[in-house]
Amino acid sequence: MTPAGCCGQELRLGARGRSGASAKMAEVTSQYWDELYGQERYAYGTLPNEYLVQQAVWLEAGMRALAVADGEGRNAVWMASRGLDVVTIDYSNAGIEKTRKLAEQAGVQLSVIHADVFDWAWPQQAFDVVISIYFHLGPEHRRAAHRLIGSTLKPGGILILEAFHQRHAQRAGSAAAKLAPFLYTVELLQEDFCGLEVLECFEGPLPLAEGYMHQGTADIIRLLARKPRLPVAAVT
Ligand SMILES: C[S@@+](CC[C@H](N)C(=O)[O-])C[C@H]1O[C@@H](n2cnc3c(N)ncnc32)[C@H](O)[C@@H]1O
Repeated sequence: MTPAGCCGQELRLGARGRSGASAKMAEVTSQYWDELYGQERYAYGTLPNEYLVQQAVWLEAGMRALAVADGEGRNAVWMASRGLDVVTIDYSNAGIEKTRKLAEQAGVQLSVIHADVFDWAWPQQAFDVVISIYFHLGPEHRRAAHRLIGSTLKPGGILILEAFHQRHAQRAGSAAAKLAPFLYTVELLQEDFCGLEVLECFEGPLPLAEGYMHQGTADIIRLLARKPRLPVAAVT
């Protein structure tokens, strides 16, 4: 792993890339995800994302956490099982249903919101932790969503993000080149989250083993960032 310093719809693309990926990329809608999540098995598995687990030191029971676009709920349920007060949002009805089922099986409670992130009234400075795991959007939507994430963090709040790097489109083959605008670079994330302090930023190839959708070597980005605390008024 090479740490890379930085400031501050997958669509049909699996970890190894899938044939036909590029043609579908721009067409992804909630219906696509409903179809994917409509089957019994969990597309990304029921275990939490590895990077999220690695950041467990930042997660304390009682903290308010937001899982953005968490699909079938694996990450949200895991945080709730650690005692966090979790809100999860996704626009796929099938994903929301599977999130509820997973939460019930785990014996945890969480607040499940079925909505498009752009239709939701994001509370300002409300969350101690926000996670964004493989939430891929095109340039305009990506920037807007990332600004909303920044604004919903409390001062001192933590962002944990993992996503495909643009290089992953090349790995997936020349036919997947048009996926690149939906994938990320460190520079894009730096710009989107310029108000946050970067605690850790990694980009590089890593093996993924998450459900049946993420299997094999992938070029990814991992970002851990913190919203600065409000300046303390000088005492005279
Ligand atoms: C690759 S999946 C990741 C799911 C989950 N974070 C995980 O790692 O298991 C991307 C998710 O983004 C959701 N999504 C995409 N655009 C969205 C939007 N505008 N509003 C809400 N959810 C959205 C999809 O429904 C899908 O569940």
